[in-house]
Amino acid sequence: MQIVKYVFQPHGDERGQLVALEEFKDIPFRIKRVYYMYDTADGFVRGKHAHKKLEQILVCIHGSCKILLDNGTEKKIVPLEKPYEGVYVASGMWREMYDFSEDAVLLVLASELYDESDYIRDYDEFLISVGAGK
Ligand code: TYD
Repeated sequence: MQIVKYVFQPHGDERGQLVALEEFKDIPFRIKRVYYMYDTADGFVRGKHAHKKLEQILVCIHGSCKILLDNGTEKKIVPLEKPYEGVYVASGMWREMYDFSEDAVLLVLASELYDESDYIRDYDEFLISVGAGK
């Protein structure tokens, strides 16, 4: 299972840093939605779902967190600790976000609008959907 990590180009000068993300240039899909998580309570795991169609890039723009990616046969953990790095999450990939630092802000760039019917929230159903069910 290949993890696709992005290192974005910071435009730094004496004033500080700036990262710009453009669809089809820095991000491999049309960005239809942006959302972010913050004030994540200690010990909680977010995500715990897969998407049928939607693709995402996750960027921890402040603080740090960990992303577990699971394709049904293999699992990998990706730490996100820099505001200029992102991880690509394909459709059909189970994801969990956890170990949020107190100051963490996790930005999500998504290829689709919010649509509950695109979610697979049941792990056994996910395994069946990727052909890894019992
Ligand atoms: P939820 O799907 O539980 O977050 P995650 O699985 O990523 O931890 O979403 C939390 C709430 O926010 C839920 O009531 C749905 C709502 N929501 C929206 O209204 N729009 C969105 O784009 C997202 C991602 C969530």
